[in-house]
Amino acid sequence: MTTNVKAVRIEAFGGPEVMTLAQVQVGEPGPGEIRIRHHACGLNFIDVYQRTGLYPNPLPLVLGMEGAGIVEAVGEGVTHLRAGDRAAYASNPPGAYSEARVMPAKCVVKLPDGIAFDTAAGMMLKGLTAQYLLKRTLPQGGLRPGDHVLFHAAAGGVGLLACQWARHLGLQLIGTAGSDEKCALAREHGAAHAINYRTEDFVARVKEITGGRGVKVVYDSIGKDTFERSLDCLQPFGLMASFGNASGPVPPFAIGTLAAKGSLYVTRATLFTHIATREATQAMADELFAVVQSGAVKVRLAQRYPLAEVAQAHRDLEARKTTGSSVLLP
Ligand SMILES: NC(=O)c1ccc[n+]([C@@H]2O[C@H](COP(=O)([O-])OP(=O)(O)OC[C@H]3O[C@@H](n4cnc5c(N)ncnc54)[C@H](OP(=O)(O)O)[C@@H]3O)[C@@H](O)[C@H]2O)c1
Repeated sequence: MTTNVKAVRIEAFGGPEVMTLAQVQVGEPGPGEIRIRHHACGLNFIDVYQRTGLYPNPLPLVLGMEGAGIVEAVGEGVTHLRAGDRAAYASNPPGAYSEARVMPAKCVVKLPDGIAFDTAAGMMLKGLTAQYLLKRTLPQGGLRPGDHVLFHAAAGGVGLLACQWARHLGLQLIGTAGSDEKCALAREHGAAHAINYRTEDFVARVKEITGGRGVKVVYDSIGKDTFERSLDCLQPFGLMASFGNASGPVPPFAIGTLAAKGSLYVTRATLFTHIATREATQAMADELFAVVQSGAVKVRLAQRYPLAEVAQAHRDLEARKTTGSSVLLP
């Protein structure tokens, strides 16, 4: 059986205009797959990289890596989900910008009743990312309450969740953001300090805040514009955790720089290594659901767009107009 659904598809890489609302066919799930009907889909910066081709995928392509809805059918071998379950995911391959899709079941988890579909669509990819960064992407010796970390784009989707989660862990998160209003938002969400990196020298401010010592970790999703100066914010043996390229990819650099700046460590991390198995995905999702259900981490759904207005959603995200999470409603 196949049905026609609406989905946002691209046939070439490019600007927001390459996205069109198309009718696509959705069939029955095969072994290890499910069919899910979306109630909400998440908007993420990775969708921009996939739209432009910075992260290339075969074309034509339905975009979107995050969603929540009702499981309609399960394929052979899927035991953790049943038709009728409320479910949510952050998952490869893309395809979430749609009314319904067939997808691998591995990264789909049951959604607790207390979490609404739109909240789930605004928190799975970003919240699992905040989880693996703050709990698994750590400097030598780990992080302890009171330690300083620097988190760029602290008022964004991943950023606001990370601010709250860091506060929950007792960390002193120094956030950066592109306006005074965004800095205030980061502070309201748990950042101990916030720096407007459009008007202030963030390296000097980090040194001032930490009494000249620097931070143990920098979580940097800005890439090209911040990478080098972020290294100057680190303590000796500190960890540079690069996890995105909102301003463009980090250019190649001389590895000797890491010695000169204090035997630094660098990683380029991605969520998809962390959620490679169903067990790991479930364990991380359980932690995320726990902090959301306890109220320690709240999901700020600041932008909602009908699926048909996806081009505007991408323009707003790329123009740095959004804060917190954005969802697309099919
Ligand atoms: N590796 C992973 O596992 C992983 C997973 C999830 C997300 N990410 C990365 O984490 C970052 C945040 O993702 P998100 O979806 O939550 O997005 P977001 O933070 O809501 O939006 C990106 C933010 O980056 C800042 N930015 C700085 N320079 C920019 C530029 N030249 N163009 C556009 N934005 C710029 C803007 O905030 P200001 O105005 O405050 O500067 C903007 O709001 C992205 O880089 C994403 O790729 C990585």
